[in-house]
Amino acid sequence: MALIPRACEALGKVGVSVLIEHTAGLAAGFPDDLYVARGAQIVGREELFGRADVVAQVRSLGANPDAGRADLPLLRSGQTLIGMSEPLTAWSEAGELARAGVTSFAMELIPRITRAQSMDVLSAMSTIAGYEAVLLAATALSKIFPMLMTAAGTLAPVKVFVLGAGVAGLQAIATAKRLGAVVSGYDVRAAVKEQVESVGAKFVVLEVESTGAEDKGGYAKAMGEDFYRRQAELLGAFMKDQDVVITTAAVPGKKAPVLITKAMVEGMMPGSVIIDLAAERGGNCELTRPGERYLHGEVTVWGPLNVPALAPHDASQMFSSNLTAFLKLLVKDGQLVLNREDEIIRETLVTHNGAIVHPRILELAGIQK
Ligand code: NAI
Repeated sequence: MALIPRACEALGKVGVSVLIEHTAGLAAGFPDDLYVARGAQIVGREELFGRADVVAQVRSLGANPDAGRADLPLLRSGQTLIGMSEPLTAWSEAGELARAGVTSFAMELIPRITRAQSMDVLSAMSTIAGYEAVLLAATALSKIFPMLMTAAGTLAPVKVFVLGAGVAGLQAIATAKRLGAVVSGYDVRAAVKEQVESVGAKFVVLEVESTGAEDKGGYAKAMGEDFYRRQAELLGAFMKDQDVVITTAAVPGKKAPVLITKAMVEGMMPGSVIIDLAAERGGNCELTRPGERYLHGEVTVWGPLNVPALAPHDASQMFSSNLTAFLKLLVKDGQLVLNREDEIIRETLVTHNGAIVHPRILELAGIQK
């Protein structure tokens, strides 16, 4: 749910009146009456699209294969749409929004600058996904995580390996550690070694050249074929003895790098589990089937989709807080003000006045400005 009840009150104070679609918050634990108590008005979907100046969604067209398209005829020219919309890959949908005259903002494009930290939805959702990935692994594994010394014998702790130690990966490491696992982490960006160690894992160093793996925004860059081949060989050797492998490796705007090949899966111990958090981007494991959990031989390969939705209450609370901070930036004295001098507004604005306006998306879509 894009806004929780408390946020309606906070927005009311800056002159924003909030319309909530009937029962939209229910699945996340926020029934209509809680919204009404905080000053929001409950309306039907069509009325909402008909009356709102700004439509806020968690996943809008581009990121929402189910409902996003159905929204297109409801959106009005001049209306503003804010949500996650996969702008770096779903640029054709951005074109459709532009043609509909919609001013759209993609929350994934919030720049990673200090002033925008409170609006960083990617970090918020990755935090939840990293935590949930460990719980999924724990339910799929036929072992328990901690070491136990009991009268009935000693149980060895499980070994968890997290590949990709960004926000989701670090949260997965910390969660697995809390459950008692012996955890290792790896990332192509050498700078994260200290962070991996600070949440209690061993950082795995591979004998493979990875200088230049980080861009100026702190994200990973795509590497060459040779790099990925050598990386796979070394990772395969390490994975032979792991119970759980959680992968989170992503390169913004690109298909996820394949880090785990079929041969590597076949080299793993029977009963071990792979949770591929990059499934939405094709997956870090060659065998991942996005949205499915299945056995390849004796190894569980699980590529869950929309993982933050597994904790809808907390995911909504975090998204709502990010969105509220962003809306406060856009609204001055109760009016929507599009100040393109502001880096946060400029970087997130995808379509405006009937055109795609974001330089990176124009480039991806092959459109000359
Ligand atoms: P992400 O979701 O784009 O990628 C996840 C991880 O996969 C990254 O750590 C990346 O280096 C890694 N990766 C990519 N290719 C890989 C490969 N071939 N092998 C192994 N690992 C690979 O990244 P995320 O989690 O959104 O953030 C990346 C970094 O951005 C953070 O660790 C942090 O340094 C920075 N950041 C900065 C913030 C700010 O406000 N200044 C907020 C949040 C993150």
